[in-house]
Amino acid sequence: MKHFTDKVSAITGAGSGMGRALAIRLAREGCHLALADRNATSLEETARLAEAAAPHIVGAPLLITTAVFDVSDRDAMFAWAAETVRQHRRVNLVFNNAGVALSSTIEGMDYADLEWIVGINFWGVVHGTKAFLPYLKASGEGHIVNTSSVFGLFAQPGMSGYNATKFAVRGFTEALRQELDLMRCGVSATCVHPGGIRTSIAQSSRIAPNMVGFMLENEQQGKDDFEKFFITTADEAARVILDGVRRNRRRVLIGRDARAADWLARTLPAAYQALVVLQTRRMKRMAEKRAQRAAQLADRRA
Ligand SMILES: NC(=O)c1ccc[n+]([C@@H]2O[C@H](COP(=O)([O-])OP(=O)(O)OC[C@H]3O[C@@H](n4cnc5c(N)ncnc54)[C@H](O)[C@@H]3O)[C@@H](O)[C@H]2O)c1
Repeated sequence: MKHFTDKVSAITGAGSGMGRALAIRLAREGCHLALADRNATSLEETARLAEAAAPHIVGAPLLITTAVFDVSDRDAMFAWAAETVRQHRRVNLVFNNAGVALSSTIEGMDYADLEWIVGINFWGVVHGTKAFLPYLKASGEGHIVNTSSVFGLFAQPGMSGYNATKFAVRGFTEALRQELDLMRCGVSATCVHPGGIRTSIAQSSRIAPNMVGFMLENEQQGKDDFEKFFITTADEAARVILDGVRRNRRRVLIGRDARAADWLARTLPAAYQALVVLQTRRMKRMAEKRAQRAAQLADRRA
């Protein structure tokens, strides 16, 4: 797809971060939007920002619609896809972007937490793909953009649930792209692997109590440390994603961190794991020293 003007894009997780940035960039290019999120307030704010970003063409304003639902709900996703086509008459792009993060050891992991993240990060992508595919084919020019992660390229302790969903999105989307190529049906697919992007994902993540003492000092420090790795803005990420769609890329890596992790996992597919363990131990020692110094300082003040 060479341009987005007068196309129709459906975006999940549009209330924040990369979903919002995609909506604003697409609106700026004259693309009609069907926006979805589970958070009604932030979704309305995105719709407002996208409307403000849209070019003001007299007589042909952009149509921006919103829907509030949980992407892990299959019926709700299929209903939204049908409603999008009813309201917009067609749909050309779907961005299966909504996602959440979870930190937990495997040994201590609650099944409820694992089911929660699999429901959103994996099943949400599956439902979005299957619900929109017939409409994308009918449009004559369609593209499916599924968001995996740098954690869909390499694994990390404490991230098994997130890793499992993002590796799954990668396998699902790579197979999907091959099937679409074989079908020559006018629909393509891209798998996106962002590195650390400055969004709300860390602050809204679930951190299981079993991580405290294992890899983290406390929940808030875990979230704050996670954010230290966020080096790319959401707007830049959206620019790279849309550029990848224009070039019909099979996969899109965002940020030098994602490119480095991809290189490491492909060059040292087994040894990188030992390197991650060494680095995690080093960071844990540093965190312990930091906590000791803070405790000594507090003692002196008391
Ligand atoms: N930020 C990063 O560093 C990073 C890195 C790699 C991959 N990703 C992936 O990028 C995608 C976008 O995340 P982001 O960083 O913009 O995060 P974000 O938290 O800023 O935005 C995620 C949005 O998804 C929505 N959402 C969450 N669960 C939902 C559900 N069940 N149903 C509907 N909407 C739901 C949230 O309300 C939020 O508006 C996610 O799939 C995430 O896993 C993010």
